[in-house]
Amino acid sequence: MNDHDTDGQNPGARYRLWPVRGRTLAGLGATGLILAGVAGAFAYTGGYLTPGELTQARIIDRFQALNGVHPGFRRNHAKGVCATGTFASNGAGAKFSRAAVFALGSVPVVGRFAMAIGKPFMPDNETEVRSLAVSFRPPGGEEWRSGMIDIPNFPVRTPDAFYQFMLASSPDPATGKPDAARFQAFLAAHPDSGPALGSIRARPFATGFDNASYNSINAFRMINAAGTSTPVRWALAAVDPFVPEAPDAAPDKNPNYLFDALIARMERAPLQYRLVLTIGQPGDATDDATRPWPAEREQVDVGTLTLDHIEAEAPGNCRDINYDPLVLPDGIAPSDDPLLSARSATYSTSFTRRAGEAKTPSQVQIPDTQVPDAPASTTQKGS
Ligand code: HEM
Repeated sequence: MNDHDTDGQNPGARYRLWPVRGRTLAGLGATGLILAGVAGAFAYTGGYLTPGELTQARIIDRFQALNGVHPGFRRNHAKGVCATGTFASNGAGAKFSRAAVFALGSVPVVGRFAMAIGKPFMPDNETEVRSLAVSFRPPGGEEWRSGMIDIPNFPVRTPDAFYQFMLASSPDPATGKPDAARFQAFLAAHPDSGPALGSIRARPFATGFDNASYNSINAFRMINAAGTSTPVRWALAAVDPFVPEAPDAAPDKNPNYLFDALIARMERAPLQYRLVLTIGQPGDATDDATRPWPAEREQVDVGTLTLDHIEAEAPGNCRDINYDPLVLPDGIAPSDDPLLSARSATYSTSFTRRAGEAKTPSQVQIPDTQVPDAPASTTQKGS
């Protein structure tokens, strides 16, 4: 299968629902946005949930069925670019966490901007869900990896619901159109997902990577020097002012318009984001990524991320990092959110598959920073 034929240049292979109007498809309009961003269901995949246990291999196989197999690339968030810089802690995070990254001072970081969906050559308007993943590397301290996305909550609560969401979002094989009845059945069986999709739909997306804010979505726990454990979520909030994307901004753009704008922005000046902790209170669910915490929760600015270098994916840079959300330093611990261990296991399978495959250069290239390709290194969990 030729990547370039299937990733957007063949209009029949594309599947965008949000321009659709009408009562029957109103719910699916929101669904289209989310399936575009999170599940990445643009091609017919066929089949309903088959019997048997859900494993990370089955989830990755499902991503591959939805998006095609693109050797060497991530099975989700496949189109991306690397950025490096520093995180300057202001010391405020030490109240909640004894992790070295929160001591006053700066640590180097390796980041990656990406679009959701496992299609490395798709046009940038195929989804509005964008991500920023960061590896914080305090010298003499333990590494912290976090992948964040620009929506306020997740559409599903459990790994099984995620798998069924992918199936339910697939177009009907007979018509190539959304199967409203199947999606309604999914919503009926997963009462958390309707409100979660509504919450995502209620917030406008940013015009670019630079002025978006990226959320941890999942809750974690922070443990301070006294051993006190606090439920937290976090976000990287853009210092560049937020500008909402116009609803009809997408159709006729340069296929790399978002990445090109990001590169141009970073060539002008470093990009900055505030790392903001949201402090959970007793009763706030830590095991439910579909539900944001109340807006009045305490927010603590713990420092500034500055990204001052951008480069195409290449051997040894962000391309070869597994941004596993469970690579956590002492002082940050997982919550009871069931998505976390599923993410960790699934990213590992995606990493293992892509690490062993021949590489094709990324669609996102930057003049003067390209380096020749070579066998992938194996930066895995804990390495
Ligand atoms: C069960 C639910 C989920 C599954 C199965 C899943 C699956 C995946 C996979 C397979 C990758 C590619 C990993 C790699 O090869 O390195 C990925 C990347 C990513 N996911 Fe998820 N994901 C899930 C939930 C989430 C959630 C809740 C978030 C919220 C922040 C998230 C954020 C990201 C980000 C930011 C990346 C890109 C990381 C990078 O640039 O390398 N995912 N996801």
